[in-house]
Amino acid sequence: TSSFNSVCCIGAGYVGGPTMAMIALKCPHIEVTVVDLNQQRIDAWNSDNLPIYEPGLDEVVKACRGKNLFFSTDCEAAIRAAQCIFVSVNTPTKKTGLGKGKAADLTYWESAARNIAAWSTSDKIIVEKSTVPVRTAEAIEKVLLRNCPQEGVHFDILSNPEFLAEGTAIDDLTMPDRVLIGGKIENDRGTAACAALCEVYANWVPKERILTANLWSAELSKLTANAMLAQRISSINAISALCECTGADVSQVSFAIGKDSRIGPKFLNASVGFGGSCFQKDILNLAYICECHGLQEVADYWYSVVGMNDYQKTRFVRRVVSAMFNTIRNKKIAMLGFAFKKDTGDTRETPAIDVAHGMIEDGAKIALFDPQVPEEQVRMDMGEEAMKSITCYSKPTEALKDAHAVTIMTEWDEFKTYDWRAIYEVMHKPAFVFDGRNILDHAHLSEIGFIVYALGKPIDPFLKSAEGA
Ligand code: NAI
Repeated sequence: TSSFNSVCCIGAGYVGGPTMAMIALKCPHIEVTVVDLNQQRIDAWNSDNLPIYEPGLDEVVKACRGKNLFFSTDCEAAIRAAQCIFVSVNTPTKKTGLGKGKAADLTYWESAARNIAAWSTSDKIIVEKSTVPVRTAEAIEKVLLRNCPQEGVHFDILSNPEFLAEGTAIDDLTMPDRVLIGGKIENDRGTAACAALCEVYANWVPKERILTANLWSAELSKLTANAMLAQRISSINAISALCECTGADVSQVSFAIGKDSRIGPKFLNASVGFGGSCFQKDILNLAYICECHGLQEVADYWYSVVGMNDYQKTRFVRRVVSAMFNTIRNKKIAMLGFAFKKDTGDTRETPAIDVAHGMIEDGAKIALFDPQVPEEQVRMDMGEEAMKSITCYSKPTEALKDAHAVTIMTEWDEFKTYDWRAIYEVMHKPAFVFDGRNILDHAHLSEIGFIVYALGKPIDPFLKSAEGA
């Protein structure tokens, strides 16, 4: 059992909600309260319609909610009661001012810290769950110490970055590859705080998977992990472009190199590009920190990972337009998928946004279907002007009827199960498929009569001649 019996989490988002639900499930002796300023979000967490879609999440929340898991907007009460406070507020890229477009915006973090300082009347362990720049704990400690009106209240700061992936959050939380806890392990207080948090995780995570480190290593590990993951995607995407020019097949290349135990088989699928709220923001943040330390060459190396991702999206749109005789004006183009990956409704930084804008610029009429993304979300992401060229459908068959082309933007499993022969019948000819995720059976599609473009695959002779290549 753990020495905590009461924890709270500030920020009820994609990270705060699932991670706290898992702690509540695995530690029935701990009372967990998740707070947020956003009333609508809290109401949704307290309803049957949770604010985020994540396989298995409903069951975990249902099992604990009202017992030892609570969602509330009363930040003050929750902060006062908790011995340990997780902070998992959003840390987006700064939009204005110094470091705009690169640096992490710590506004939300700082305001959470100020609230903690103002309302705490007993010692607290503060856990950085959000992804933050390296050395943020130092800044947070200053805010906490200088703003706490109570004498003798002590704050211990830990870094406990979250490595869950959206779409598999519950599995990742149930059996994490590792849990990383950074603290001031050079002194006794810091070591004790680390040990207390380790105890919480030890309720279900095998001991050898719980790692401790110094604060700065833990903070930097999260940025590095995301940068390396994104770099792998950009690397294989770069190779996909070369495959298309040479007749090599990127899937065969991935398979062959993945057999090398130093490389490993995961995260080597070529695609239209990575998305999600984290990869780009974290790489830009990492590169910006390097710049601030005078490491321009290191910064440029990481910027190039984002550059390659942008190139891949542009390349995809270019291929669609050139293949379809250099004009997609007023052509209905079915877009299957809008979420940044399967099994989530999250659309933050999804490549579909850029691809849709690119095709609209060329006059396309987009017919969109995504099993989890509602029309209002698409409207928010694309803007009113673009929505004049987008129709959202609740059935894939409606999006596909009379379309000239299909673009696959998200690797939803259900797309593989569609009756592609029937789809071919209701589409204009020549009927094109542009598979931005390489999930469909391309040989089967070609056999039906589709002209197929897949990333990093030998180019259909028809596409080649359309390009004049
Ligand atoms: P989110 O935007 O879904 O949730 C953040 C929540 O914090 C929002 O609901 C917001 O209203 C609330 N909030 C902001 N300031 C507050 C305050 N002062 N008091 C109370 N509530 C406040 O963000 P998400 O995706 O959960 O990410 C949170 C952090 O975790 C970010 O730093 C992110 O980089 C990191 N992260 C995200 C992962 C993901 O898959 N989404 C994975 C691992 C880390």
